[in-house]
Amino acid sequence: MRVLVAGGAGYIGSVVTAALLQSGHQVTVLDDLSTGHADAVPEGATLVRASLHDSAPVLADVRPEAVLHFAAKSLVGASQVTPEDYWHTNVGGSLALLEAMRAADCRRIVFSSTAATYGEPDEVPISEDAPTRPTNTYGASKLAVDHMLTSYAVAHSFAAVSLRYFNVAGAAYGCGERHATETHVIPIALQVAAGTRNAMTVFGEDYPTPDGTCIRDYVHVQDLAAAHLLALPAPAPGEHRVYNLGNGTGFSVQEVVEAVRSVTGHTVPVVVGARRAGDPARLVASSARIRADLGWAPEHTDLAGIVADAWEFAQARNTLV
Ligand code: UFG
Repeated sequence: MRVLVAGGAGYIGSVVTAALLQSGHQVTVLDDLSTGHADAVPEGATLVRASLHDSAPVLADVRPEAVLHFAAKSLVGASQVTPEDYWHTNVGGSLALLEAMRAADCRRIVFSSTAATYGEPDEVPISEDAPTRPTNTYGASKLAVDHMLTSYAVAHSFAAVSLRYFNVAGAAYGCGERHATETHVIPIALQVAAGTRNAMTVFGEDYPTPDGTCIRDYVHVQDLAAAHLLALPAPAPGEHRVYNLGNGTGFSVQEVVEAVRSVTGHTVPVVVGARRAGDPARLVASSARIRADLGWAPEHTDLAGIVADAWEFAQARNTLV
């Protein structure tokens, strides 16, 4: 297929671009490089530097048969401080992209949604039928786009899939995580292991979990990429599907730190700090629906393996400085 990847110069977008190329798809990446990197775009894909708001001429030119949409602002904390950026880019930008698709008669889309659409869960593991009560603007902006896709499917015969990622981690195809502002626990712990940060703060150890630290569902980015390839042809016109993507196994912050110590062979000094506002104690996905519908099953479920791939990428691309 001729596909357009919005946000293909970012972490997850670049990995999925590599997977698409490997499966024989023809890929154009649309990215404004506000947080992505031109050199992250895998060889074989064409990069067009443009924002979602200016995507119409690009789609008119490329005439894609499908779009994969990763382009977004994705920092939960920042979304509470400058929500206007999140509404403008994530919601306004997505609307512009959907309109550009309609004008170019492209009606197939896979969208990066998030576990943050659920907020504080009543039950774990979290299924797609759980109530959506986001506790931050980031999650609310992604949920708004999920709703947008439902109405575009109904009114304009879009074939759409929202993939709700839990904690994406690891690296694949030589692509990985390289954020100017790093907030995620695994890359931060790796920076501490490499000695470029003095210590890591564990945000709270008084949660109602076995070791008192928060539990999250870390899903390998390569498994995530495989899910995108399965999702791409799946929906019929008029259909909007929603799938959770996680390992189904939770690991605590303490277990992450231990994994980083054992993979890197370095000490990882930690300081116990206060809880971070808005952090639920335990977030674990039920991915039963995508397993049943599309036969997706995560293959890289071992935390040490996920950390090892992230460590290898970080060293190779020198992201630890
Ligand atoms: N944590 C620390 N210290 C740090 C960084 C994180 O203890 O320096 C803890 C957090 O408190 C949390 C866990 O590590 O318990 C994971 O935190 P991350 O910031 O790595 O990830 P989140 O679970 O907060 O966020 C992820 C995605 C978001 C998404 C969210 C949905 O990165 O994009 O899941 O819940 F919105």
